[in-house]
Amino acid sequence: MNSQSHETDRNSVPAHVAIIMDGNGRWAQARGLDRSEGHVEGVNTVRKITEEASELGIKYLTLYAFSTENWNRPQQEVDMLMHLIGIAIERETPDLIKNNVRLTMIGDVERMPAEALERLRGCISRTAHCTGLTLNLALSYSSRWEITDAVRHIAADVAAGRLKELDIDENIVSAYMATKDMPDPDLLIRTGGDMRVSNFLLWQIAYAELYFTQTHWPDFSKEDFRNAVAQFKGRERRFGLTGEQIKASQTPKKTV
Ligand code: IPE
Ligand code: IPE
Ligand code: MG
Repeated sequence: MNSQSHETDRNSVPAHVAIIMDGNGRWAQARGLDRSEGHVEGVNTVRKITEEASELGIKYLTLYAFSTENWNRPQQEVDMLMHLIGIAIERETPDLIKNNVRLTMIGDVERMPAEALERLRGCISRTAHCTGLTLNLALSYSSRWEITDAVRHIAADVAAGRLKELDIDENIVSAYMATKDMPDPDLLIRTGGDMRVSNFLLWQIAYAELYFTQTHWPDFSKEDFRNAVAQFKGRERRFGLTGEQIKASQTPKKTV
């Protein structure tokens, strides 16, 4: 790829990609393995896709790693996942720093076991100076939890006189969300074949492009990710306008 087309690509890459990493259990079960093997393999995919997102010049990658509803899985699987998250974070931190990746997280993380949470917080502070990709993990996250939490804080600020009821607009609501420092996702990918959003970023994906693939998360490759981004680039995002309006608003290319 020559440098010019690379530059063009960088200009149209999504700023924020969110992924529902689904299908670990079915990937393992199809191979006669324990579901936990699928989660272990899924961590390798996280590493690969994080590298590729950096490579493509994406600024934010939000990964749905554990939902509020996932707390209701068999205790053994929950324990295994929490243990795995802690181990993976500890192991990957040096590479995150090397690759200039900053870790952040969203979710009701106080529910997590102390050890995993401590490791996550350690990684967050050790990568706080990194200026490349922001890898944002959604942990113990659900959109309804987040929105409820935001409403509670808005109500408290109004009651305390810090916020006026009539000043509440969409920007203010966004500023109370856990994603307040990030742009809304441009592209939402779900692996594993199901076409649902499972309580993920409901406010933020209002105008995201959706991409569903049958591929289970452990099999999702860098090439699959590039294909999803390429498909995104080919879509016309109209935001309620007509196609003609969108074309007219695009700056004409220089012909000299
Ligand atoms: C996604 O894979 C990982 C988590 C939800 C933690 P699953 O564990 O949901 O895999 P399937 O959907 O059962 O195959
Ligand atoms: C969504 O996957 C949550 C994560 C990927 C962490 P689930 O497997 O929990 O979703 P449902 O239950 O099939 O909707
Ligand atoms: Mg699943």
